[in-house]
Amino acid sequence: MLKIAMIADLHHFSETLCDGGKAYHLRESSDQKCLAESGAIIDAAFNQIAESDCDVVIVAGDMSNDGEVVSHEEVRAKMQKLAEKKKVYVVYSTHDWCCDGNARRYKGDEVIRDVKTMTVKDLREFYKDYGESDAYDIYVNELGAASYAIKLEGVRFIGLNDDYSGTGKAGYTDDHFEWILKNVRDAKANGEAVILMEHHLLMAGISPLINGGQMIGNHDERVKALAEAGADIVVVGHSHMQRNTQFTHENGNVFTQINLGALCGHPGAIMYLTVDKNEFRTEMQKVEKFTYNGTEYTNEYITEHSKNLLMGILRSALDDKDEFLERVNSIDQNFDLDEKFYKPVRMVVKYLMNLTVGRAGRLINFFTFGKGVNRKAVKQIKNENLVEHIIDIFLSVFDGSAKKYATDDPVYIIVKDVASLPVRVSNVLKIKALRKEKIQKIFAQIQEIAEELTNSSLPDNQQMVIKR
Ligand SMILES: [Fe+2]
Ligand SMILES: [Fe+2]
Repeated sequence: MLKIAMIADLHHFSETLCDGGKAYHLRESSDQKCLAESGAIIDAAFNQIAESDCDVVIVAGDMSNDGEVVSHEEVRAKMQKLAEKKKVYVVYSTHDWCCDGNARRYKGDEVIRDVKTMTVKDLREFYKDYGESDAYDIYVNELGAASYAIKLEGVRFIGLNDDYSGTGKAGYTDDHFEWILKNVRDAKANGEAVILMEHHLLMAGISPLINGGQMIGNHDERVKALAEAGADIVVVGHSHMQRNTQFTHENGNVFTQINLGALCGHPGAIMYLTVDKNEFRTEMQKVEKFTYNGTEYTNEYITEHSKNLLMGILRSALDDKDEFLERVNSIDQNFDLDEKFYKPVRMVVKYLMNLTVGRAGRLINFFTFGKGVNRKAVKQIKNENLVEHIIDIFLSVFDGSAKKYATDDPVYIIVKDVASLPVRVSNVLKIKALRKEKIQKIFAQIQEIAEELTNSSLPDNQQMVIKR
């Protein structure tokens, strides 16, 4: 038996890069993750892991927020301490070498872009002791980044850098992929379990509509080949959304993708994977508490921060014109909302914030001649606030809780009805057949997303048993 602690997307942001001023406040409030608090959260997570009964810790990339050298130095120092108690293996990826040139520091009202960042080649040397030095086989890709294969007890662990496919997308060249397959086949011939780790997604998690852009190139072909060769599990990060997805090959092999959430965002999770003779088991543990600037905070702080991504902008729309305009305009540097739009936006937000499920249901049914949403279901929760339900579902995207609504739960019935509305409306509209087919394909994906987020019978993303 082997127990592995899995974390991803630490996005450590060194406190030396911000002074807590206005520019930083705008930046952190438009992010699902905690930034300045990341060091404190990582310390707490590493302490919990060090005290756990796991044997190995694996980290699926984006250790630093934007490749800042200082963030990497700090996070590696924390890792060094953890490595005194547990084996630690990492893969690095795009946010570790700042592929988008977006590293910034914040001073008062100013955003300054002079932060020193790591190159891919630097990273290989920098994290050598966290993978490569225990490997029996190494592959170096065209960027100079290394993939490595390690033999653990009954498990072959293969850490991959998936930043170069030669096509401009994340992924692997054919040569690199052959190296992976060779090691998978070798492990299988030895009767070992195969656990791979890469940063980007191999399978679409919630839906291609949401996660499509986060996947490696040629993913369908790659998934099929890996499943055929007998790979058991691939651990990925990047989407910041916890989700388990499975692919069954025609030869019967089940290949499971475990997509981890971001450690410093909701739900602040450490996922444990137990490898047994007959099964794999996953189990989620949250970072319980952490100390930042001398004050102790519970996990709730991380959730509130993620919630604030939606609520912050809505609240400022209600009572702070300047903050609202600043927040909206900080989303994109080319964005400049004129202040004359503030009043109408405020009116809409005020209406939305006070909207009950009952009123929203009646409104939809008015425009759809009573066919929009199930009246009985709406009546059951008519006095509940609509925005609160939206926040609940928004958080479940990140924590993978899938809300566990039973199929007779009014929320499930209402979400299902609303998600099917676009298809139903387009059915009665006069649209050219070819065009109709195209848009209905997209609308069908909206229905699938609603199902994925609310259906209690889907695989559990926090606790799962996978038979071997
Ligand atoms: Fe990330
Ligand atoms: Fe990423």
